Amino acid sequence: MQNISFDYIEDELKMVESQFETHLATETPLIQRVAKYVISSGGKRIRPILLLVSSKICGYKGDDHIPLAAVIEFIHTATLLHDDVVDNAPLRRGKSSANTVFGNEASVLVGDYLFAKSFKVLSSLDNMDVIKAYSIAVTLMAEGEVKELVKTADIKTTEDDYLDIIIKKTAVLFACASQIGAIISLKTGEYGQNLYDYGLNIGIAFQLMDDALDYTSNEEFGKFIGNDLKEGKLTLPLIHTMERCLNSEKDIVSGIIYKKKLTNADLQAVLKLVKSYDSIDYTISKAKAAVLKAKENLNVFPDSEHKRNLTDIANYIIERKL
Ligand code: IPE
Ligand code: IPE
Ligand code: MG
Ligand code: MG
Repeated sequence: MQNISFDYIEDELKMVESQFETHLATETPLIQRVAKYVISSGGKRIRPILLLVSSKICGYKGDDHIPLAAVIEFIHTATLLHDDVVDNAPLRRGKSSANTVFGNEASVLVGDYLFAKSFKVLSSLDNMDVIKAYSIAVTLMAEGEVKELVKTADIKTTEDDYLDIIIKKTAVLFACASQIGAIISLKTGEYGQNLYDYGLNIGIAFQLMDDALDYTSNEEFGKFIGNDLKEGKLTLPLIHTMERCLNSEKDIVSGIIYKKKLTNADLQAVLKLVKSYDSIDYTISKAKAAVLKAKENLNVFPDSEHKRNLTDIANYIIERKL
């Protein structure tokens, strides 16, 4: 399975897509150009899909889930614009990243615009619990990105540091997307908490897989292999290796992690080490464990098509190649 989608939300997803157009109608063409470039470049829309399906599983009957799904993708897009500047990423979704095409300045400013616009749309819906949920997620995401920056090239980064970073920078937005259905349906008790935890667990698995794929993927992934290492980012595959390897091997990695320009030989040396300590398998096994937990979070729901779809999304996370 390359992408996840369900026939019964296709129409609603189209409505979400048309909201992007509406919210980007400004008199400043650069905003439209940059935002449209990223938004139309083939994102999987996994967060809006989660929001729509979670609204269904809670029996939601109104219309707010459409703008809320558009906002979750706007926020995601804003973080990608900023993240690709911070990570010096040349590629996004198999195409030149926005920072490559339009420059860092435009990427940062249009990312800001998308954040600001998101909260304008949210405030128009007049639901304080919804605003709170999005604000918490966005604040934690920013904190996660900053914490990751601080830990750049820190070879003492632990698995706990790493988990804290990925929960904040990635998993909380999945949790927010999954929880919103419960909030707007006024099912914030057991349903709300379990949907939040489900989203958090699949978000953790998602980033773990992303970090494993950064070492193992091919062009299909749409990002260059080894980009994390090039940027001095210690993700779980390398942290696991560093916690186990010989001092002489640690010295090899330390030498490489500080380098500005990585050669293919550098990448191969680290890859060989990471593979020899089974650290990619370890990372994938952690992702699988998180997906299992996510599926347990769904136990509170009676069997339904929506529950099966949320289960499929959880399974997709560990099967995806892009
Ligand atoms: C990319 O997220 C950022 C991470 C959290 C790793 P996605 O892989 O969901 O991005 P798109 O929108 O589908 O490209
Ligand atoms: C993804 O971070 C999380 C956010 C964008 C907030 P990464 O830097 O690990 O993701 P990719 O690899 O650029 O998609
Ligand atoms: Mg990045
Ligand atoms: Mg990043």
